[in-house]
Amino acid sequence: MNQQESSSGYAMDRQREIYIAGMSGQTPKIPIALDALEKVAKERISPKAFAYVAGGAGKELTVSSNRSDFAQWQIMPRMLRDVSKVDYTIELFGKKHRSPLMLSPVGVLEMAHPKADVAVGKAAANMEVPYIISNQASMTMEATAQAMGNASRWFQLYWSKSYELVESFIQRAENSGCEAIVVTLDTTMLGWRVRDLDMAYLPFLRGKGIAQYTSDPVFQKLMDEPETEPRPKNKITLDTFVSLFELMKAYPGGFFKNLTSGRPLKAVRTFINLYTKPSLNWSDLQFLQERTKLPIILKGILHPQDAQIAIDHGVSGIIVSNHGGRQVDGAISSISALPGIMEVVKDQIPVILDSGVRTGSDVVKALALGAKAVCIGRPYVYGLALDGQAGVETVLKNLLSDFELNMRLSGYKSITELQPEILRFVGNTK
Ligand SMILES: Cc1cc2nc3c(=O)[nH]c(=O)nc-3n(C[C@H](O)[C@H](O)[C@H](O)COP(=O)(O)O)c2cc1C
Repeated sequence: MNQQESSSGYAMDRQREIYIAGMSGQTPKIPIALDALEKVAKERISPKAFAYVAGGAGKELTVSSNRSDFAQWQIMPRMLRDVSKVDYTIELFGKKHRSPLMLSPVGVLEMAHPKADVAVGKAAANMEVPYIISNQASMTMEATAQAMGNASRWFQLYWSKSYELVESFIQRAENSGCEAIVVTLDTTMLGWRVRDLDMAYLPFLRGKGIAQYTSDPVFQKLMDEPETEPRPKNKITLDTFVSLFELMKAYPGGFFKNLTSGRPLKAVRTFINLYTKPSLNWSDLQFLQERTKLPIILKGILHPQDAQIAIDHGVSGIIVSNHGGRQVDGAISSISALPGIMEVVKDQIPVILDSGVRTGSDVVKALALGAKAVCIGRPYVYGLALDGQAGVETVLKNLLSDFELNMRLSGYKSITELQPEILRFVGNTK
């Protein structure tokens, strides 16, 4: 975001647009407060989809503290500092970006909207916000990349049991113009997600969110290998047919062909067998480093010692994240983890904050505590559910505006001015 957008700034243009539309009786279709989106989106998507997106692990204590812990810091605004000209661009891995916002990788977006990842990719491109394409995407990385043109995108990897598959994903990400590889570390198995368990619903089993796999030549080859795991036995009910119908529809190649080929079921079984690698450890990183020149960024770091080990292993960046509270219930909130991590990392590698970001002041606080950028997850999924690509753009426009106003009204015109001293720690306000 820079001053070229108008003489007054992006945020004031956005305010004007909204208030002027109000003169003709139009109020925003999408709630302005990102926290309020969840309630509206709940009415638009199926209960299973809502549970999958909104839910977290266990009692969802970490989902809550990701939000509430931002209140532990307060901004001390400065006055009379000429904030007429502002520059909120950032540089990451040698590339300039319009703002410090990024879109977190979110899987199974087809549950929110049929255009899924492609719609999000287009919105991200229009808004010049980098998009981290998910390993569990509903559409292939190639399709999303094509929709994004030259816009900035990274690829997020879940390290599967097959090294050959990992290599293939990385190669495809490079060919798709992804500028970095984000390795998510916190999901070597799925967290205890009570809402999904209560509904006995896991989208992958219905062929949703496995497009990166089914489109992959190595995965297709792995599907043909003899199965070593016993096949699960299940009672056949009407719901079995509904689930199978969904699966046949989701798998590429057309419903009738899929019905006879047996490949969709085979794909799901192969996926389940390969999906995660609980034995993943620091020594695995070398495998990636030997296969890509792209920056490798570790997502899911919360402990300062892990940040140190990451640096020792030569990674290019880290994302401080607890997966939006979906993995370890009671895990430290991302914003509370950030200062300890910055003490270790200092300026050695960029640190990005993810989990719980909902307002412009959250962004200011995260940057002041040392993050170079922030990621948002659920809010853009709700925007997608409410209005497709336009919905994602609206969410980003509003967050960018809120951020800009918080910066300028606090007296700061560039990101470098955001330092820990601009905040006051007021402790736990819960
Ligand atoms: C529905 C859903 C699916 C997700 N899928 C992925 C994924 O495929 N890969 C990943 O690294 N993180 C995934 N995440 C975690 C997000 O990348 C991000 O860490 C989290 O949403 C940030 O928290 P927030 O939702 O509070 O902004 C997912 C999150 C949600 C809500």
